[in-house]
Amino acid sequence: MDFRKIRNDFPTMRNDKGVYLDSACQSLRPDSVIEAITEYYTDYPVCGGRSVHHLANEVSIRVDETREALCDFFNGHAPENFVFTKSTTDALNTVIYGLDLKKGDRVVTTDTEHNSNHVPWLQMRDVKGIELKRSRSGMDGVFDIESFKEAVGKKTKIVSIGHCSNVTGCVTPIKEIAEIAHDAGAVVIVDGAQAAPHMKVDMKDNDVDFYAMSIHKMLGPSGMGVLYGKPEMLEGLRPRLYGGGMVGLVTYGSADFAPVPDRFEAGLQNYGGIFGTKAAIEYLSKVGMDEIEAYDHRLMKYMFDRTKDIKGLHIIGPEDPMKRSAVMSFNIDGLGAHDVAMMLDAMDGIMVRSGMHCAHPFFVSREIEGSVRASVYLYNNEEDIDRFAKALEKISKTFGGF
Ligand code: ALA
Repeated sequence: MDFRKIRNDFPTMRNDKGVYLDSACQSLRPDSVIEAITEYYTDYPVCGGRSVHHLANEVSIRVDETREALCDFFNGHAPENFVFTKSTTDALNTVIYGLDLKKGDRVVTTDTEHNSNHVPWLQMRDVKGIELKRSRSGMDGVFDIESFKEAVGKKTKIVSIGHCSNVTGCVTPIKEIAEIAHDAGAVVIVDGAQAAPHMKVDMKDNDVDFYAMSIHKMLGPSGMGVLYGKPEMLEGLRPRLYGGGMVGLVTYGSADFAPVPDRFEAGLQNYGGIFGTKAAIEYLSKVGMDEIEAYDHRLMKYMFDRTKDIKGLHIIGPEDPMKRSAVMSFNIDGLGAHDVAMMLDAMDGIMVRSGMHCAHPFFVSREIEGSVRASVYLYNNEEDIDRFAKALEKISKTFGGF
């Protein structure tokens, strides 16, 4: 695969809008995704799954085709096991609020979770009285399997864990985690927001019960997410939203729920987003997830090499770029993260994220005020990283006083 050609498929790159190093927040979109969204609004701007006229039928067909594409891409059990949501957060909340949790049920997460896999559990602790336990990772954020086993013990109801940290880029061994969790009788929920865009994820092979992801980090439209659930798991989940589209027969006194996945998709859906999702999955399939993962690693290694001699720069997370996915979080001594981010933008249009990246407990526990985060994806190249490294070097010399 020629990654130089890929860049031309992205209008933001083609039109030279700056150096985009914020894909862990939201990815850019190729022409094919933008065209698919436009196709919906131009040719079929109607509702699917309800009316029986020809435009509505076409939308319903496209919705089914998108689920089929997701099922092939992720090796799921059936297309019906993929539920459309608006984000990973939405998908995780659908599961967490849909489970039948009781006082005293043990839920195990880690100490590196994004708020979307932490705050809902705090709510469950406060409202339902669950027991919330966290496995500890090293200071650098690397997952510790022994601490995890200890937290799970012999009887845990739920294991809910991030596949890849949005701060350190550390990847967790979800297949091994699922085995340990299942031996203890637990249901396994995975926050795949940062992993699904960057590596091959095989639902059957990993044997996880639920997997949440954000399509807007995978070249797809903004505000689109997906929840995967094993068939029996989705069957056992209580819907979170109630109303039109999620029911069978309704009387004044009762309502039957529609089959999975419709029962989790109450109300009108983001059909333009669903059209764009299919185009995004097709684009990623065409490039190949193994190729994308290898390319990400190449760029991360280059980023580490180009920045290693910058004075005052401290990387958060493992020092070895091969031990992380596509993010590098760092600070420069004496400078605030937001200041560095604004200077990068002002100096050469370099776009990064700064702050606590919705992973506040990680920073608070390590007494770090925040970080700058540069993240790469398939449309970046070495030249982007050269520009980033040069600007950073200048910031370190001029404002850090090194
Ligand atoms: N969770 C997204 C990020 O890490 C928004 O930037």
